[in-house]
Amino acid sequence: MAPTFIVMLGPPGAGKGTQAKQLAQRMNLVHVSTGDLFRDNLKNETELGVLAQQYMNKGELVPDDVTVRMVEERLSRPDCEEGAVLDGFPRTPAQAEALDDLLAEMGSAVKVVPYIKVPDDVLVERLSGRWMSPSGRVYHEKYNPPKVKWIDDIDGSQLYQREDDKPETVRHRIEVYNEQTSPLIAYYRDKGLLVEIDGTQSIELVTEDLTKAVEEA
Ligand code: AP5
Repeated sequence: MAPTFIVMLGPPGAGKGTQAKQLAQRMNLVHVSTGDLFRDNLKNETELGVLAQQYMNKGELVPDDVTVRMVEERLSRPDCEEGAVLDGFPRTPAQAEALDDLLAEMGSAVKVVPYIKVPDDVLVERLSGRWMSPSGRVYHEKYNPPKVKWIDDIDGSQLYQREDDKPETVRHRIEVYNEQTSPLIAYYRDKGLLVEIDGTQSIELVTEDLTKAVEEA
C-alpha cells in the first residue's frame, strides 16, 4: 500500500502540534514537525540550527531551499516508509510543489489536508499562554494545564515559553502566515484535499472532527 501523508494546515497557535502528535500516535505514523526539527538543530548547535534561529526569533520563515532539503532528508528515513503527519510543512506554494514532487518520487501523494481554522485574536491568547516541555509536549496555562504548575506531567521537567511566543513576534508570525501560507488553502482546496475544522472548539472536539475527516479520506 502507498504510504499515507497528512498535511496539517492552520495559523500559528491553531493547535496543529497538539493534534498532530495524537493523530500520528493513533495512526501509527511519524509526526514530522519542521518547527521541532529546527528547534532540535538549534539545541544541538548545528549550522542549520544557527541559520534557522535568525529567522525563527523574528517570526520569519526559514528559506524554502533550506527547509525543503531538511524535510527531504527526514522523509527519506526508514520510519517514514508508512507515511507521516506533516506539521508546519509546507508553508509556501514553493514548498507545497516540492512536497508533491518528493512524494511522487516515493510513489505517493498527500492524502488529506485538515485545515484548523482559528481567528487571530484567539491565536495570540493561545500562544501567550503556551508552555512547552523540553521534549516537545505542549501545555496551556488555562486550556491544557499541567498537573503541577510549570512541571511536565510525564517526566517532571521544567516547562518553558518559546522565544517566538512574545506577543509582538506572534503578531508578525500571523502576518507572515496570512501572506505566505494562506495561499495553500486554495491550493489544497482546488485539489479536493482540504477539510475545514473549527479550531475554536475544545481540544477533544477538534480531535473528534479531525479523526472523522481522516477516516473519511
Ligand atoms: P512552528 O513550530 O511550526 O510554529 P507554528 O506553525 O507557528 O505553530 P505553533 O507551534 O506555534 O502552533 P500550533 O498550531 O502547533 O499550536 P499548538 O498545538 O502548539 O514554527 C516555528 C518557526 O519555525 C516558524 O515561525 C518559522 O520560522 C520556522 N519554520 C517552521 N516550519 C517552517 C517551514 N515549513 N518553512 C519555513 N520556516 C518554518 O497550540 C498552541 C497553544 O494552544 C498550546 O498552548 C495548546 O495547549 C493550546 N491549544 C491547542 N488547541 C487548543 C484548543 N482547541 N483550545 C484551547 N487551547 C488549545
